[in-house]
Amino acid sequence: MRHWPLTQLTLTTPDLLLRVPNDEQLDELAQVAADGVVPPGTVYFPQPWASGSPDEVARNVLQNHWWARGDWREDNWRLLLAVLLLPDGQVIGQQNLSARSFSVTREARTGFWLGRRFQGRGYGTQMRAAALHLAFDNLGAERVVSTAFADNHASLRVSEKFGYEPNGIRRLALEGRLVKAHDGAITAAGWRSRPQQSTQINGFTECRHMFGLPAAAEPVDVVSHL
Ligand SMILES: CC(C)(COP(=O)(O)OP(=O)(O)OC[C@H]1O[C@@H](n2cnc3c(N)ncnc32)[C@H](O)[C@@H]1OP(=O)(O)O)[C@@H](O)C(=O)NCCC(=O)NCCS
Repeated sequence: MRHWPLTQLTLTTPDLLLRVPNDEQLDELAQVAADGVVPPGTVYFPQPWASGSPDEVARNVLQNHWWARGDWREDNWRLLLAVLLLPDGQVIGQQNLSARSFSVTREARTGFWLGRRFQGRGYGTQMRAAALHLAFDNLGAERVVSTAFADNHASLRVSEKFGYEPNGIRRLALEGRLVKAHDGAITAAGWRSRPQQSTQINGFTECRHMFGLPAAAEPVDVVSHL
């Protein structure tokens, strides 16, 4: 799509392709969510989008994507990428990267989820790595943060593997019960101090201005760390 250059952005990891979904992929993503993301009765997100009936969950996914696109501003953006399994392109989950006033703060936030049947195979780690590549190597982030609830061991472990530093615990009331939200943060120096997976990023030059960055920049369209 010429006038929404984010559609040209692709992040390729050893097993995955991350991109803004077209309508067909978005519909598939909604179905993956409807089929289940969290174990029944579990709350892993501050907004209960993954709870409710399958129809409600699917609609939450669609509306979240439309809202993120409609509400996109250079100083307040939410990039919601569908995660496709290579080589066939089966949609399996979603990776988010968001920021407010990024050109000033140089801080972004990640979030992610996979359909239950695709969890525990290392894909979440690849998704996070791809988002960190985009944030640090293309966007020039100085810090990336994420939050996971105390009982979300898989999410906490993914952050731990990348060397995130604990950044406090917040006490939230969700559906009438106490939830402890563990914040974590990783700096650009922390990111660069560790070996990284190979991630190829294409189409970034065309859309870098959408993130509130100056159009002219060094050529960082393809980033590959071995
Ligand atoms: C969180 C999520 C995206 C992680 O993706 P994933 O593909 O399952 O994660 P990976 O397989 O890459 O890695 C998970 C790590 O956690 C570990 N892990 C998983 N469950 C665990 C548990 N109960 N206790 C301890 N470690 C656990 C795995 O062993 C692995 O670590 P390792 O590589 O050192 O063995 C995925 O599990 C998911 O979608 N969960 C439901 C939605 C969600 O919680 N989203 C995040 C909200 S903050």
